[in-house]
Amino acid sequence: MLRGLAGPKTGGKVLVAFASQTGAAEQIAWKSANALIARGDFVRVAQLGALTPAELAQAGTLLVVTSTYGIGESPDSARGFERKVMPMRANLKGVSFAVLALGDRSYEDFCGFGQRLDKWLATNKARRLFTPVLVDGDEDLPAMKQWCENLAKLGARTTVEALMPAPPQDWFLEERRLLNPGSPGGEAWSVSLTPPDPALLNWRAGDIAEFWPRNADSAVDAFLSERAQDGASRHVWQDREMTLRDILAHSRLPAPHEAPGMEAERLILQLQAYPHREYSIASLPGSGRLDVLVRKVVLPGGKLGIGSGWLTHHAELGGRVPLRLRPNPNFHPSSDGPVILIGAGTGMAGLRAHLLHRQKKGLREAWLLFGERARAHDLFYGEDIAAWQADGTLARADFAFSRDAAPKTYVQHLVAEQGGAIREWIGRGATILVCGGLNMAAGVDEALSAILGREKLEAMTGTGLYRRDIY
Ligand SMILES: Cc1cc2nc3c(=O)[nH]c(=O)nc-3n(C[C@H](O)[C@H](O)[C@H](O)COP(=O)(O)OP(=O)(O)OC[C@H]3O[C@@H](n4cnc5c(N)ncnc54)[C@H](O)[C@@H]3O)c2cc1C
Ligand SMILES: Cc1cc2nc3c(=O)[nH]c(=O)nc-3n(C[C@H](O)[C@H](O)[C@H](O)COP(=O)(O)O)c2cc1C
Repeated sequence: MLRGLAGPKTGGKVLVAFASQTGAAEQIAWKSANALIARGDFVRVAQLGALTPAELAQAGTLLVVTSTYGIGESPDSARGFERKVMPMRANLKGVSFAVLALGDRSYEDFCGFGQRLDKWLATNKARRLFTPVLVDGDEDLPAMKQWCENLAKLGARTTVEALMPAPPQDWFLEERRLLNPGSPGGEAWSVSLTPPDPALLNWRAGDIAEFWPRNADSAVDAFLSERAQDGASRHVWQDREMTLRDILAHSRLPAPHEAPGMEAERLILQLQAYPHREYSIASLPGSGRLDVLVRKVVLPGGKLGIGSGWLTHHAELGGRVPLRLRPNPNFHPSSDGPVILIGAGTGMAGLRAHLLHRQKKGLREAWLLFGERARAHDLFYGEDIAAWQADGTLARADFAFSRDAAPKTYVQHLVAEQGGAIREWIGRGATILVCGGLNMAAGVDEALSAILGREKLEAMTGTGLYRRDIY
């Protein structure tokens, strides 16, 4: 509970509930709470999934900040809430509420969970203070301005700049290494960066790095010469003065039939900036560098994915890479006890950070279950794994290499096969950490549910013993 002097417009009592998968909604929830405290409210911040209907009914003013994950689903921490609490009737008369829903318009069910929650609160007689604010990505200034105005109407003191994440900073691309030459799968690159200031070497296992991708210089040059534009001309774009070359580098380049023959100022108005791309951090600050493990996406026709192409191919060694760190408390280490780490492909990145953390602390009792294509090529960070096995950081490691076995075996099959041992580890209080793609995570979730039961998994999510960094 955070406390200030009683504020007038909210009756002085505010509950800020959040449901966040990768930390964005959680950050905004805390910033919103702090803005109300500055005004003098009694503010409690809590994970939505940990609240009972009775606690919600006592809220006074309830602000909910939530994201939508998977395919229109709630974040993990609110899965139990949606399954068990939302189908029930609750008497929320006397509660005034507002919802801030984070999402991404490229998904069919935009802000699906936030909108369901808004309806559920209203259906249960809570009074809607404002229409829900739907936020598209974390550069959605108009939506965040709206939320800021809503907070101001409740008496909060803040600015939209304070609610938005800080701008990125230029790091340096130190090293790039192909980890799986000859693999039957896509290339996986270890990409290492160093900060402009050592003070930026500050994150925890489980955190995320956000990168602002650029087009290849050659693509920008071709665009400029096709249109006879001067790349060095300067313009204001997104409140900053930049060269046309730089503006184009950060934007989706219009095809020749789009915006033909347009002068620079008009062209700039039409450009869409690339959103940032997120990567699980694979190293700890003590190494002096930030490592990520990036799968190079190759699109039909051979063009590279915007973010992965930039990091694994186009970006110049030694060059600047705009980057921002994002705390991801949902995937931080939660205990020094036993841990089962499950992942596939680039999911090894997040698991590696956890294993490095445990190695540093001299912790044992870690069990790795990892899936990829071919052992001869795809045992990412194989030297680290051997070292963790040798020094006892890893008590056990099991692998599923799909191309090495018939029928194909994936990591979820490995989990299903190990039901007895998993139950035994969970009985000793083990945490489960899952990192990697959504399909793998769904398969692993099903296998774990068959072994432990859905109720148990939801309870483990609630107590931080089942944590996922999935995408
Ligand atoms: C929390 C989190 C952690 C992540 N961690 C990692 C990680 O550790 N390692 C990792 O490699 N990735 C990770 N990702 C995924 C990463 O952020 C990117 O989504 C991924 O690298 C692809 O981005 P891209 O810009 O290269 O591809 P994009 O250019 O965005 O393309 C992605 C997909 O869009 C489709 N597409 C785009 N353009 C076209 C087109 N012209 N024609 C047809 N299809 C098209 C294709 O299906 C393509 O595969 C993570 C994501 C999240 C949310
Ligand atoms: C794997 C994945 C699935 C997502 N699914 C949806 C979705 O179905 N609908 C939506 O509006 N946004 C979706 N999003 C966007 C997130 O809601 C958005 O990135 C949000 O800012 C994340 O906030 P959080 O860090 O608090 O979880 C998805 C994002 C990811 C990475």
